[in-house]
Amino acid sequence: MEYLKLNKSRHAVKHFDGTKIPTVDVKQIISTAALAPSANNLQPWLFTIVESKERRELLIDETEPGNVSQLEEAGAIIVLFSDTAIAERSQEIAQKFGNMMAPEMMQRFNKIYPERFAKFTPKYTTDFLALNAGIVTMNLVLAIKDFGYESNIILGFHRTDHVNEALDVPLRYRPELIITLGRSNEKGEPHFGLPQDMLVKIV
Ligand SMILES: Cc1cc2nc3c(=O)[nH]c(=O)nc-3n(C[C@H](O)[C@H](O)[C@H](O)COP(=O)(O)O)c2cc1C
Repeated sequence: MEYLKLNKSRHAVKHFDGTKIPTVDVKQIISTAALAPSANNLQPWLFTIVESKERRELLIDETEPGNVSQLEEAGAIIVLFSDTAIAERSQEIAQKFGNMMAPEMMQRFNKIYPERFAKFTPKYTTDFLALNAGIVTMNLVLAIKDFGYESNIILGFHRTDHVNEALDVPLRYRPELIITLGRSNEKGEPHFGLPQDMLVKIV
């Protein structure tokens, strides 16, 4: 779909008809979304597809009441985690995929980035991960729309280790956002867009 048309047609949808979205589609959507840019191309993401009914229920237990029905009705649920172990991730990338990289790139992942990440303050690391999570989530909801499904982004859940336990995800990963997707009769409403003079400053 043409980009502007795609962007204008995507709206937050909060009721789904419960039809299961095939996992193959969810995986293709995630592959498309993961084309998103990321700082140092670290792609510090883990997209957890919640297939099991039991795990969906455990996740619902961690969700704010106003968002529960969305999780119950969704045709698929993705929970986006960030990898907080960014230095380790960088070296793991070098070790696993170094043979596919130019030597300079391998050196960046193996040494230069880990040394840089080691100097990050906790706040900087948090911001780094949150920014990368936001960017890939935007790509995700556009990809979902392009595949013919509706979606919503949910921050309203308890973003604690309980989510890791519920979904059997190691604690080095931090829960960021839940993305619900599915088929819906709702098409959502064009959102109230703020005027440019509130959003843009030309200096
Ligand atoms: C970071 C973020 C967090 C959000 N959290 C929630 C949420 O917890 N529950 C919910 O129903 N919608 C949530 N939304 C959806 C917004 O309400 C929705 O995107 C916004 O009203 C604009 O509407 P649109 O997506 O149709 O343009 C969230 C959206 C974003 C980007």
